[in-house]
Amino acid sequence: MEHIRNFCIIAHIDHGKSTLADRLLDMTNAISEREKMDQVLDNMDLERERGITIKSHAVQMYYKFEGKEYTLNLIDTPGHVDFSYEVSRAIAACEGALLIVDASQGIQAQTISNLYLALEHDLEIIPVLNKIDLPSANPEEVSDQIIDLIGCKREDIIPASGKTGQGVDKILEAIVKRIPAPKGDPNAPLQALIFDSVYNPYRGIEAYFKVVNGTIRKGQRVKFMATDKVYNADEIGILQLKQYPKDEISAGDVGYIVSGIKDAREVKVGDTITSADNPADAPIEGFEEVKPMVFAGVYPVEIDQYEELRSSLEKLRLNDASLTFEPESSAALGFGFRCGFLGMLHMEIVQERLDREFNMDVITTVPNVSYIAYMKKDPTVPVKVNNPADFPDPVKLDRIEEPYIKAQIISKSEYVGSIMKLCIDKRGILKNQVYLTSDRVELTFEMPLAEIVFDFYDRLKSISRGYASFDYYPIGYRESDLVKVDILINGDPVDALSALVHRSNAYDIGRKMCEKLKELIPRQQFVIAIQAAIGSKIIARETISALRKDVTAKCYGGDITRKRKLLEKQKEGKKRMKQIGSVEIPQKAFLAVLKLN
Ligand code: GTP
Repeated sequence: MEHIRNFCIIAHIDHGKSTLADRLLDMTNAISEREKMDQVLDNMDLERERGITIKSHAVQMYYKFEGKEYTLNLIDTPGHVDFSYEVSRAIAACEGALLIVDASQGIQAQTISNLYLALEHDLEIIPVLNKIDLPSANPEEVSDQIIDLIGCKREDIIPASGKTGQGVDKILEAIVKRIPAPKGDPNAPLQALIFDSVYNPYRGIEAYFKVVNGTIRKGQRVKFMATDKVYNADEIGILQLKQYPKDEISAGDVGYIVSGIKDAREVKVGDTITSADNPADAPIEGFEEVKPMVFAGVYPVEIDQYEELRSSLEKLRLNDASLTFEPESSAALGFGFRCGFLGMLHMEIVQERLDREFNMDVITTVPNVSYIAYMKKDPTVPVKVNNPADFPDPVKLDRIEEPYIKAQIISKSEYVGSIMKLCIDKRGILKNQVYLTSDRVELTFEMPLAEIVFDFYDRLKSISRGYASFDYYPIGYRESDLVKVDILINGDPVDALSALVHRSNAYDIGRKMCEKLKELIPRQQFVIAIQAAIGSKIIARETISALRKDVTAKCYGGDITRKRKLLEKQKEGKKRMKQIGSVEIPQKAFLAVLKLN
């Protein structure tokens, strides 16, 4: 055990985590030429294209130092806020972390939020000043930032470049010298922490774990403590890009287990694997069920593809346990599903995978967060509201709560004014303001999550010219004054366009929704009234005038009765369409509320 080092890399997006990881693998000869690809760790197509490490993985390397061979386990962490619980579990499996900071960009929001997670778990931090080969690198200033942030000595910072390989040997050395060996008792009852899992269509779920105490053996009966299910450890092993089966893995080390599990929901990140016959007294602490934070209706564009959509979602859920869905129906869109996502990026990923892997064309409705309602008749019982359609009758409502987040924003100081204004507009409360250097500021806000869902990130980027970085984590529910804004098209409410909003914003949003829909709905043969309403009260209205198709154009000079007949007919046509409300609403209108300025 004293020759094992478990570490992760924490970095802001694009600061070079994957490139450096490749270099480490390269220098320790963990990759054969044939396996070498640009970014071996990102093995999903989608990940490579987007340059985002969506799913975390683990990989083992061997490194000789002062005559001794060390086993280095690199536990990769996903780089996006939507997956912050997975990041926290990966960090919990490590004793040390490389803190990578791009020498031209400096410290960014995610550097800090992940660093806090690492410090919470008492990880040894090795600061790395990356991309020093860049002409725009600013090593002095960025080193100052790092020193201010973690209070290290200047000589502790390793200047490096994942691109040229400079400094990478120093990093390997520091991993061995500075990161402590794992602690744990190989003879105690088994406790292995699951920090990730992936779905393999042939073998089922592969769970990645770190053995905290005890020893796991091939063929052993194991119990997953959160689900209380028992399986056979059909295969266990270690990962070096490929899997190498082993007979046993002991305390301190990292590995995978395959046990014939077919559904991702049975393997929960953060759960503890123990022995079924000699179980540990307690699981490793810190387990949480991941809960979806953002909900949206997902409907097939073609109505008859409902069953196909269901089976596609079921297959997706086999390898993405954080996706939830249940059937719902909409008068406007027919039959579909209310899906729960970890966040907006997760929602985009699911949408894209439905399209790519299952060839499903879907309409996604306006996303909303999950609210908690308490009714007057029993104000102690929380009722989840994941869909505007389920918003309770305000008369019967005692109170309603919405999820809040803590937002960390780092920006150049010249943009502080506009960022403050944006956050306050979004009902944010400024909690802290710290100057990292003379022209870089860290702002901390508490804000409703719902306000982040609505185009916050795009606007932050645009007012800061791309200089602001942003990260957040949930801080619980708070009471709020919410109303449901309905949209009526020619008097008929279109359920898929309803939104839950704060009362103070309702008029503004209602008005902007109507304006936006007026832009998006094409003129038709008849007048279209677009109204926003709270209950029975109309709060905004727009009108799309009729496109008067001149049906008489072709009968110039002709007989007047024929002309009149045609006009009659046209009027009737208008009436019929109005009656059945067959206004053609384009798809993009269902997401209009996201694009309000
Ligand atoms: P995410 O997975 O999205 O968080 O990104 P990442 O942190 O893994 O960054 P990645 O390794 O994908 O690198 C981002 C970009 O920076 C790529 O275009 C790399 O080629 C480039 N890059 C990475 N390391 C270096 C370096 O040391 N020097 C220079 N000049 N460019 C680098």
